[in-house]
Amino acid sequence: MIKEKISKLSEMRKEAKLGGGKERIEKIHSANRLTARERIDLLVDKGSFEEFDMFKLHRCVDFGMENKKTLGDGIVTGHGTVDGRVVCLFSFDSTVLGGSLSKTISEKICKVMELAAKIGAPVIGLQDSGGARIQEGIESLAGYADIFLRNVMYSGVIPQISGMFGPCAGGAVYSPALTDFNIMVRGTSYMFITGPKVVQSVTGEQVSTEELGGAGIHNERSGVAHFGADNDQDAIEKIKRLLSFLPSNNMDDPPLIDCSDPADRKIPQLDTIVPDNPNQPYDMKEVIRTILDNNDFMEVQEGYAQNIIVGFGRLNGKTVGIVGNQPNVLAGVLDINASVKSARFVRFCDAFNIPIITFVDVPGFMPGTVQEYNGIIRHGAKLIYAYAEATVPKLTVITRKAYGGAYCVMSSKHMRGDINYAWPTAEISVMGPSGAVEIIFRKDIMNAPENERDAVKKQKEDEYTEKFANPYRAAAAGYVDDVIDPSSTRFRLIRALEMLETKHEKNPPKKHGNIPL
Ligand code: HXC
Repeated sequence: MIKEKISKLSEMRKEAKLGGGKERIEKIHSANRLTARERIDLLVDKGSFEEFDMFKLHRCVDFGMENKKTLGDGIVTGHGTVDGRVVCLFSFDSTVLGGSLSKTISEKICKVMELAAKIGAPVIGLQDSGGARIQEGIESLAGYADIFLRNVMYSGVIPQISGMFGPCAGGAVYSPALTDFNIMVRGTSYMFITGPKVVQSVTGEQVSTEELGGAGIHNERSGVAHFGADNDQDAIEKIKRLLSFLPSNNMDDPPLIDCSDPADRKIPQLDTIVPDNPNQPYDMKEVIRTILDNNDFMEVQEGYAQNIIVGFGRLNGKTVGIVGNQPNVLAGVLDINASVKSARFVRFCDAFNIPIITFVDVPGFMPGTVQEYNGIIRHGAKLIYAYAEATVPKLTVITRKAYGGAYCVMSSKHMRGDINYAWPTAEISVMGPSGAVEIIFRKDIMNAPENERDAVKKQKEDEYTEKFANPYRAAAAGYVDDVIDPSSTRFRLIRALEMLETKHEKNPPKKHGNIPL
């Protein structure tokens, strides 16, 4: 009798594991994709996965749905470990009704999300879903709303990561949008509110899935995605690597890794990396990489708003969040996209106890009607807000230009920067010499005989450069703590970080602030 019962259980497990059936699984494999369960197997440590609700069923009885029931109902949920650390997860099974979301599926997701919050573990959602299950109507919408609520409640409490596989529509993209990071597979994953067919019927616009919401669009144009992956396997690897930098929750510190890279390693090439000509670009990524442990930098949103660089690395084994202006792209200017990209990153680091290191070479905010009409004022203000409210250790290195409002924003002393260093090549002032001279010496230039105007301008520019285009005015005011040899930057940062280990700073009590959204 018991034997039969056990063998029935085994049969039911087998059935559940087949999801929508062999044929559909083969279709997934022939598209060079993995199934929901294969993705989980790759993600978690071998043998560590514990599944929940394998036998849960949907309860819809409309449109013949009472005859279309699959054990587990199109999602696999549970917990496991990644590199020995507990994670909670859910993985949509697109072989069951296109991975569409039923009330049952949402209950399964909410269960693991609540568990994750209770135990303080990251939650990882592997999305492959056509959105709300149309046959369930309001029940399905209610299910999404339940998930959204939990996404928000646990935002800043546990890291939430979304892997995007296959076409994802409707709620299947809004929930990821509320999570901290989205990783999209190039060529097979799509994110859109509604698919191309609906787009055509509503707006008449003809667009392919790739053009509407492919990984290229969201990694380069919309800023919805944070990472692109070559295939399902690569996406899972990226999730694991990302997790390695993050604490499990907001009360935890990021993992400390044994570091073989000497803390006092000198980097002689940094002494010559800034060109003599202030208008000549250089690659801030080289500065960042060479300073970090083993030159290891995990860039976030690499293809989006490339005039600013954000990402994770380690200094002496400890996770740091990096923000750096990129002189190589648009001279490193702060525009709307760069401001929003970096503000969100700064807030993530602050929520999860990750010190922020800011490398500054910025000529200012981007001028012009396009930026003004689209709200550079309120979007730029987001970055001010993010830096000002952040209480994690904040270290700043001004490598060259720190002009105007952008000086204030980029983790300056006035934004509660803890340690602010400048290289001898730094130029800290209201604006660059050329622009400044045009304004304050315009009359002197205009009053000079026409053939001498260029010379007068040049002389005034030299005067201004001599006085202001250096770090010593700021150092004299105490706004930078020291002017350092570029080659010693790694060591100086590591020592500052160690000193700040016990930093404790609090903002005034409030319900929440009002960031200019
Ligand atoms: C129920 C669905 C479904 C859905 C797909 N299926 N989406 N069933 N509800 N939302 C079913 C199909 O009927 C089909 O079943 C199977 O899944 C595979 O779908 P296909 O269309 O054959 O697959 P494919 O060609 O790969 O296209 C995938 C897709 C497309 C792009 C996702 O199915 C699609 O556009 N679906 C609708 C997307 C959508 O608009 N969702 C609602 C969003 S609104 P059979 O039995 O034939 O194999 C929403 C509200 C949330 O989510 C609120 C947010 C704020």
